[in-house]
Amino acid sequence: MKFIFIAVVRMITIAIEAAREAGIFLLENVGKVKNIERKIGQETNLVTEIDKQSEALIIKKIRHHFPDHAILGEESGAHEQKSEYRWIIDPLDGTTNYTHGLPIFCVTIGIEHQGEIIAGAIYDPNRDELYTAEKGKGAFLNGKRIYVSTVDSLINSLLVTGFPYNVKENPENVIEHFVNFLPKAQGVRRLGSAALDLAYVACGRFDGYWEIFLQPWDKAAGILLVQEAGGVVTNFTNDAKDIIYNPNTLATNGMIHTKMLGMIHTITKQS
Ligand code: IPD
Ligand code: CA
Ligand code: CA
Repeated sequence: MKFIFIAVVRMITIAIEAAREAGIFLLENVGKVKNIERKIGQETNLVTEIDKQSEALIIKKIRHHFPDHAILGEESGAHEQKSEYRWIIDPLDGTTNYTHGLPIFCVTIGIEHQGEIIAGAIYDPNRDELYTAEKGKGAFLNGKRIYVSTVDSLINSLLVTGFPYNVKENPENVIEHFVNFLPKAQGVRRLGSAALDLAYVACGRFDGYWEIFLQPWDKAAGILLVQEAGGVVTNFTNDAKDIIYNPNTLATNGMIHTKMLGMIHTITKQS
């Protein structure tokens, strides 16, 4: 037990260092992107040399300290190892914002152990905000404990969502879900960084977040942050176990979870 405790402390320390270093690298390179590519078959899904370099920097650091751990990075894919630990990385969450100089992006790193996220760090270099969480130890923003909000009605809730890159095809009625929530909530935002959306639910800036087609690297760290801040994360069938690799994600302060789930089901039942 003590051994595992020490291991997690070492891992979170490295995750924080890596997220900070990569975040500073991102900030230094705003406006200097030279090469914007489109991911195969998705005209609006951008990747730049900065995404790739940021990921390389993070992986180098993890490899140095934990050479036998598995890694899943958005840009370089799976680096499998026979290890109980998997680092799940998005080296630049908010690439579209980044290429436009819009200061809403971050670095996010989650560590999975036996199907659960046990530690996570999200760094927003624009605001110098570092979000951290360790399983069972709470969630923190720049070292200060954070909690989800206590809003219990949708009409008083500020919600956030994101759209997948294939939004034009309207997969799983993405647009209908948005239209459905809009008149029922106090407001609905779309920031363009899923990891920050989750971090903001964790610290009470948002009351609820849903997204269809999320990838594990978008949400690994954010899932733990919300849970450790007292919130609830499930898929759209209210399963809190099948969330890292299930693309459908609902994260709330807990008070509005059933209401949001009910709203989502009104759309999914129609289709
Ligand atoms: C995207 C952002 C966005 C979300 C998309 C993600 P990327 O990540 O998190 O908010 O709506 O689903 O793919 O491509 O900027 O790393
Ligand atoms: Ca992402
Ligand atoms: Ca990314």
